[in-house]
Amino acid sequence: MSKKILVLTGSPRKNGNSFAMTDAFIQAAEQNGHTVTRFDTAMMKISGCRACQTCYSTGKACTFDDDFNKIAPAILDADVIVFTMPVYWYSIPAQIKAVIDRIFSLVIGGKEIAGKECALITCCEEDDITVMDGIRIPLERSAELNKWTMIGEVLIPGVLNVGDIAKTDGCQQAIALANKL
Ligand SMILES: Cc1cc2nc3c(=O)[nH]c(=O)nc-3n(C[C@H](O)[C@H](O)[C@H](O)COP(=O)(O)O)c2cc1C
Repeated sequence: MSKKILVLTGSPRKNGNSFAMTDAFIQAAEQNGHTVTRFDTAMMKISGCRACQTCYSTGKACTFDDDFNKIAPAILDADVIVFTMPVYWYSIPAQIKAVIDRIFSLVIGGKEIAGKECALITCCEEDDITVMDGIRIPLERSAELNKWTMIGEVLIPGVLNVGDIAKTDGCQQAIALANKL
């Protein structure tokens, strides 16, 4: 079955390690007949949630009309949401964290978001897989709260510089994730 896949990236490095895995994932997903929509959140203007709880009062997801309002309809429409990002300070980079926080607007707006699948592709410098817990655990818990099924996680330690991902099986794991859909 062809699925609508939304890919949200969080790295500002266009030629970096998480983008390489993202590109491999998307290429395989499209080859398998899925439709992919991608937003590179670090290249967009998206601020954090202001907790005003006036979501959808203007007709758009967020009253503060920035680029998140371009992503919100794609979240509603997606069968699968794939989050890709590097670790920043043992946590989620601010650029994509703002998007994740603003998913609150869909909840407050009473939109039906349950029943989706989601996945994570991430990497970090240190040679320790638990460094990615600061991304993995909040995404797993948020998925559970939203009634999304976490279908796969690609967690690649030991990559610092652009190109380091080629020394790992990260892109192969990203392709394997796409082939699970
Ligand atoms: C602001 C910043 C903070 C980082 N914090 C961590 C960290 O806490 N732990 C770690 O292992 N790597 C950390 N890194 C390294 C990146 O996770 C690593 O270079 C990764 O491969 C970058 O992925 P990208 O090429 O997709 O941007 C940090 C990098 C930056 C720029």
